[in-house]
Amino acid sequence: MLGPVLLAASRSDRMRRVVAGAPITRPVVNRFIAGDELAPAMDTVRSLTASGLEVTLDHLGEDVTDKATALATRDAYLRLLEALKAEGLGTRAEVSVKLSAFGQALPAGGHDIALENVRPVADLASEIGTTVTLDMEDHTTVDSTLAILDDLRLRHPGTGAVLQSYLFRTEEDARNLAVAGSRVRLVKGAYKEPANVAHQDKAEVDRAYVRCLKILMAGEGYPMIGSHDPRLISIGQELAHRHGRKQGSYEFQMLYGIRTAEQRRLAEEGERMRIYVPYGADWYGYFMRRLAERPANLAFFLRSFLPT
Ligand code: FDA
Repeated sequence: MLGPVLLAASRSDRMRRVVAGAPITRPVVNRFIAGDELAPAMDTVRSLTASGLEVTLDHLGEDVTDKATALATRDAYLRLLEALKAEGLGTRAEVSVKLSAFGQALPAGGHDIALENVRPVADLASEIGTTVTLDMEDHTTVDSTLAILDDLRLRHPGTGAVLQSYLFRTEEDARNLAVAGSRVRLVKGAYKEPANVAHQDKAEVDRAYVRCLKILMAGEGYPMIGSHDPRLISIGQELAHRHGRKQGSYEFQMLYGIRTAEQRRLAEEGERMRIYVPYGADWYGYFMRRLAERPANLAFFLRSFLPT
């Protein structure tokens, strides 16, 4: 029951001011976010890659409503890619972008503005030997995001996208994207979606995840299994085996700070394991979605408000 409330709060400016302004929020936030700035995020990248993990970096921000902030997002990603290039990390680190931070949500011409802003990021990523993955936001953005994916893939075929198994449309999208050269991160979905577009029942979302994963694993693309769910992880391994896929022809992905022992275990088994590392000052929406996913996180967060 708490999940939907927290997801609604994740888009409330009033709650943002209350939660983000409380100094005691910080230690809890630090579990999920690799710092407000690029420098600590790069420390995290160095340490994760040194331990055999790969990363995808997210410069936090979303729902941008002015052009200047959208341009600032583009520039933050260009600085990030330059930093990866300087350290020769292009083969171990890629970047994840939320198109709403590139201007997709702007009322006039948002789609074109986001495409124009993300293009130089995709160009620089290719130049340094890495890729961009387009995160997926709420269902109203899916058509625009997949159209931007098609456009970017003309010049950068390795550009990836995220599909969310809770959406009814996703099996069809998975079929369309299970083609040679495409990269798809399959996740359950983290937004509050209405019943006419998305499964509401957790078990239905899981079943849909398995159906979509079967399509991706049987296809010719590169599936990226974005989940911490032990059952889905073992089904992923089983499907890879059934389709004769070698380790490295698909990968697992988990979020920074979540199930770290499992991340190491999969990497030690020889699986390609990528960690999604978010950084930046605009952590509120991302943080609230992590609280919504797991009531225990909320309890931990609320306990930090109690006097010690
Ligand atoms: P589930 O929520 O059932 O969790 C399984 C187990 O994992 C839990 O029992 C718990 O042990 C652990 N766990 C999960 N979430 C936790 C948390 N927050 N804190 C602590 N433990 C937790 N969504 C989206 O809509 N668009 C996107 O672009 C992305 N991108 C993305 C990238 C990557 C790499 C991952 C792993 C996930 C996303 N997501 C996402 C989020 C995704 O949709 C989903 O909300 C979360 O991954 C939680 O779902 P699980 O599959 O992990 O299963």
